[in-house]
Amino acid sequence: MAKLLIVYHTHTGNTTAMAEAVYEGASSTGATVTMKRAADARAEDILDSDAVCFGTPDNFSYMSGIMKDFFDRVWIAIRDSAVDKPYTAFCSSGSGGKQALDSIDAVCEGLEFKKVVEGILAKGKPSSDVLKQCKELGKKLAQL
Ligand SMILES: Cc1cc2nc3c(=O)[nH]c(=O)nc-3n(C[C@H](O)[C@H](O)[C@H](O)COP(=O)(O)O)c2cc1C
Repeated sequence: MAKLLIVYHTHTGNTTAMAEAVYEGASSTGATVTMKRAADARAEDILDSDAVCFGTPDNFSYMSGIMKDFFDRVWIAIRDSAVDKPYTAFCSSGSGGKQALDSIDAVCEGLEFKKVVEGILAKGKPSSDVLKQCKELGKKLAQL
């Protein structure tokens, strides 16, 4: 049974709504899914998972500071031990978001993670269509 980890941060709840939809989609496959706020997530959470999904708001065209702090904290412990870890990411932005999503990809590239599902970029409060996409993303990631 797949073990999926969702690590995310939010300031005003939009990214949480997306993370919850990913959780719902992944759980519907029977996978074991853990959702952790970035401030609470640890290197062991990554090492114990089969696949990871990162969620961030766009903050100044980058991932949020708390997500960056998460990667800063776990980098040494997971570098070399999680090569090829399947991952994807999603981002909630005001009007942009691509650079924020790209910033997660850049870190994951450095860790040699493997992007297995296309990420999702959404604006503001996620629409029902975005939430549907998030559920599908969770399902796909859990079924790989
Ligand atoms: C400090 C801060 C910086 C932001 N910077 C950007 C930005 O550079 N580009 C953008 O499109 N949206 C930006 N936003 C808007 C948020 O990305 C957007 O409101 C998002 O939906 C918030 O997600 P959340 O509810 O999960 O916190 C910023 C918001 C905050 C609070």
